[in-house]
Amino acid sequence: MAVNNPRHLVNLALIGFMGTGKSSVGRLVAEQLHFDYLDTDELIQSRSGRTITDIFDGEGEAVFRKLEQQLVSELAARKRTVIATGGGLPTNPVNLASLKTHALVVCLWASPERIWERVRNQTHRPLLRDPNPKSKIRELLAAREPFYRQADVLINTDLRSAREVTQQIVHQFKLAQSGQQ
Ligand code: S3P
Repeated sequence: MAVNNPRHLVNLALIGFMGTGKSSVGRLVAEQLHFDYLDTDELIQSRSGRTITDIFDGEGEAVFRKLEQQLVSELAARKRTVIATGGGLPTNPVNLASLKTHALVVCLWASPERIWERVRNQTHRPLLRDPNPKSKIRELLAAREPFYRQADVLINTDLRSAREVTQQIVHQFKLAQSGQQ
């Protein structure tokens, strides 16, 4: 892991593709660190009173991305918070740069096959309403890989349980924090 630039790591942000376990792992990490837990999708939904699908269908993806960016800019004021982000959020360089000013950015990685297994029975993701969702996953993942790779820590979740992934993240966070002192 390389956290080269001096930063004040008060938060921990989880990025990664849909179905990589950001929400479930995020909750476990927050519990272990005694941090608050925040999910950008949940917050956008509760603030707007609409589901992500409704926003995509009604106003379009661009409006959803604006809401994401607006929310990310507010997160710099948070302390001791685990932030689970929507899968497309770090493809906006402004978002990634902003998160990096206050959070250790951890990416959960998974193969397209594992992602498909995890999301195939779920219906709440507008981007996967595709005649061929498997190839859509492959295509999106390939396009997003360069952004996900900009995380401070990259964890392959394919062969690890949520508990193992959590332990690894907590360890890396403590390591990064101790390196700052
Ligand atoms: C998206 C991922 C979703 C949600 C929206 C768009 C994406 O979040 O933000 O449907 O672009 O990958 P999850 O990664 O939590 O599923």
